[in-house]
Amino acid sequence: MAGSPPKINHFTGNARTQPLWLLAELTYACPLQCPYCSNPLDFANYKHELSTKDWLRVFHEARAMGAAQLGFSGGEPLARRDLEVLITEARKLGYYTNLITSGIGMDEDRIAAFKTARLDHIQISFQAASEDLNNRLAGADVFQYKLAMARAVKKHGYPMVLCFVLHRYNIDQIGKILDLAIELKADYVELATTQYYGWAWHNRNHLLPTREQLERAEALARQYQVRTQGKMKIYYVVPDYYENRPKACMNGWGNIFLTIAPDGTALPCHAARQLPGLTLPNVKSHSIEWIWYESPDFNLFRGQGWMKEPCRSCPERFKDFGGCRCQAYLLTGDARNTDPVCDLSPHHQTVVDAITAAHQQTPLPANKSKPPIFRHLRNSKKFCG
Ligand code: SF4
Ligand code: FES
Repeated sequence: MAGSPPKINHFTGNARTQPLWLLAELTYACPLQCPYCSNPLDFANYKHELSTKDWLRVFHEARAMGAAQLGFSGGEPLARRDLEVLITEARKLGYYTNLITSGIGMDEDRIAAFKTARLDHIQISFQAASEDLNNRLAGADVFQYKLAMARAVKKHGYPMVLCFVLHRYNIDQIGKILDLAIELKADYVELATTQYYGWAWHNRNHLLPTREQLERAEALARQYQVRTQGKMKIYYVVPDYYENRPKACMNGWGNIFLTIAPDGTALPCHAARQLPGLTLPNVKSHSIEWIWYESPDFNLFRGQGWMKEPCRSCPERFKDFGGCRCQAYLLTGDARNTDPVCDLSPHHQTVVDAITAAHQQTPLPANKSKPPIFRHLRNSKKFCG
């Protein structure tokens, strides 16, 4: 399918790319309560989900613009009973489709239905390698069920990704995590370090691992990468708080990624709701083409015109785009600032201080006075305006 030809960005004068990666956050509903969830703290505010018809229109429009990959996520996408319909239509349109799930809400019949719908790829997340910790973090007794679903996914011939979000409480299990992945015959393992947005931002002092933990984990992950070469691919994502240069977040704002939230809000990144001053267009009132090419929000941090020093004159700005806008806002109060992970940033000390503060907090279970806040509807309501 031919995509729209690149157009000229009225704001920056640069040629613009089309959205290649569409993330459909189908719902904020989820039976689990992970304290590092990237959904907004006030997700309880968003009650009205897009209809099946609305989603299909979004898929059509984005595909016509050149989008090639479609991820179904949430919350828990299996909570949507029309998921099979959405996958069927997405595949007919020619998307490469990926289901990003906790496995809860899945069963063998649904996996077979996904096969009929021609879903390409399933990613199951685990909270830990041991039953006790997994269930404590998930806030539900789900570990055995996840194991059964991972085995069923492989039985149905799917390439399977297992995703483990790493933080202070599970990172020392990394050997066990990778043994579990080998046992479950995962094709890929994503060892994704917690990114501090949403609930993880709120719980950062609990979740941020120590440098010693990270060094041990990384060394072990490298050993397993050698051992499993050719059989299982291990992606180890190093946490940016311990780096001296930031990640190229989203591969640049409004460059490749388009996220549609459950209520139809279009976001240049999943955390953009946290940024003040955005109008956040909605697919119910605008076309994807307008949102991507014309909306002020998607143009806000495109190109380099918006940058302040030191990014503005830094040769690395074409590579890392000045880092992450959401992280710059959360740590400095201004999304235009250099991501403070960068040690050239005048605000780099905020990252150093965050690490110090996290290490001063007594970890659980010894610390019962200030437990992490779990992602739960009743907790979310406390953050609703
Ligand atoms: Fe990247 Fe900006 Fe740091 Fe340069 S100053 S390395 S562009 S974040
Ligand atoms: Fe929003 Fe990085 S998460 S720009």
